[in-house]
Amino acid sequence: MRPPLTGGRGGGGFSGGRGGGGYSGGRGASAGRGRGGGRSFGGDRGGRGGRGDRGRGRGGDRGRGRGGGGRGGMKGGSKVIVEPHRHAGVFIAKGKEDALVTKNLVPGEAVYNEKRISVQNEDGTKTEYRVWNPFRSKLAAAILGGVDNIWIKPGAKVLYLGAASGTTVSHVSDLVGPEGCVYAVEFSHRSGRDLVNMAKKRTNVIPIIEDARHPAKYRMLVGMVDVIFSDVAQPDQARILALNANFFLKSGGHFVISIKANCIDSTVPAEAVFQSEVKKLQQEQFKPAEQVTLEPFERDHACVVGSYRVPKKTKAATAA
Ligand SMILES: C[S@@+](CC[C@H](N)C(=O)[O-])C[C@H]1O[C@@H](n2cnc3c(N)ncnc32)[C@H](O)[C@@H]1O
Repeated sequence: MRPPLTGGRGGGGFSGGRGGGGYSGGRGASAGRGRGGGRSFGGDRGGRGGRGDRGRGRGGDRGRGRGGGGRGGMKGGSKVIVEPHRHAGVFIAKGKEDALVTKNLVPGEAVYNEKRISVQNEDGTKTEYRVWNPFRSKLAAAILGGVDNIWIKPGAKVLYLGAASGTTVSHVSDLVGPEGCVYAVEFSHRSGRDLVNMAKKRTNVIPIIEDARHPAKYRMLVGMVDVIFSDVAQPDQARILALNANFFLKSGGHFVISIKANCIDSTVPAEAVFQSEVKKLQQEQFKPAEQVTLEPFERDHACVVGSYRVPKKTKAATAA
């Protein structure tokens, strides 16, 4: 086992996060089992609740580092230990309050004034992490909600629909790393400005200021991808995802979609909206595999994850 690593500057915790409160008391980074709300489709795993993360680490002390606490939740000289999360490319900073973090692809730079944690490695080099706030990112909320697989991992090629100013995109950029790539689509020119500026420093982000309803307009910029992440918050978002998958998602690739119930139908219960969206996805050659609620970070939101045009051979091999 490696000796703990010390030193460095710290930061983190969410006491100042949107929506208030640190998250370690909720379904936080490592706060035990979730309160349900998770679901899997088909197979024999049905009905399981959303999972917390404690006890799901991949063991060992791989990638561990320790930094001295600085400002924010991990403050006052308290030691911060950074450990790999079970999702490759995601880490947990363990201090006074646990925080989800990603390894900063551009050390020394924050993207949206998020806190950074620097830890010293055994060889004297430093690694910097950026705190990932689940109140500002549905993907982070889904991870803390216990989603089984986000499919976004080091080296992955990701098409991100609804990039806004690039808050979550920047963490996806950290997560996929220099071997991966994020095509980030956003139609608002205002948000797009920040997105484009962020991408100047993050060479694995390709910003695309276009309407995701017209993928043909950006087909020359985007290659085939492993995963589509969609957060457009539009009534026709299942169709938008399908249009893009048809152009860019490889067979057997995966999708992750954030569903905001009242964007689709505010007159029926959120769960009914989620069910009807899942049906729409199934009609478009998607195979939803799991659903997690994004509460307590986002009200009446769910995240659905699954695969696309699963080739028959893969199906048979999986069954064998
Ligand atoms: C909920 S916000 C996304 C937040 C972002 N994913 C994050 O975590 O930082 C939805 C975004 O989708 C964008 N959007 C909505 N419809 C779109 C479309 N048809 N094409 C491209 N972007 C769209 C909106 O302008 C908005 O910025």
